[in-house]
Amino acid sequence: MEKKEIIFLLNDDFMRELEATMIYAQNSFIMEDCDPSRVTEAISVDEMRHMWWLADLITKRGGKPTMKHKELDFGGENLQEMLERQIELESEGIDIYTHQIEIIDDEEVVGVLKHILDEERRHRKEFRERLEKLNSSD
Ligand SMILES: [Fe+2]
Ligand SMILES: [Fe+2]
Repeated sequence: MEKKEIIFLLNDDFMRELEATMIYAQNSFIMEDCDPSRVTEAISVDEMRHMWWLADLITKRGGKPTMKHKELDFGGENLQEMLERQIELESEGIDIYTHQIEIIDDEEVVGVLKHILDEERRHRKEFRERLEKLNSSD
């Protein structure tokens, strides 16, 4: 795979991490329940760390991280909708990183993406646990 193509994929990842960072930060501000709010806040910091790791890979290969992003979808006004949206974002990331790990032939990039993938799996588990707790308390 050409360097240009790798940079293109990494920039797409970078954009998704930027969106996740902002969506989780905003949702953590408005969630009224303390525990899911704290978890969402902590995970928004993880997503920002993923941005740093990706930016490092991009710049090392001569690219420039793009701060552009799509219109943000926060999920909704209530906790259930926010958690569902956050689980959806994690699942999307898991699918994309899994695929990229298969097709990218750059050892350093694959190593970082594997590390990020592990964290996204943990994030999804954390959000799912909060959603289950919420649904079982109805
Ligand atoms: Fe992430
Ligand atoms: Fe995540």
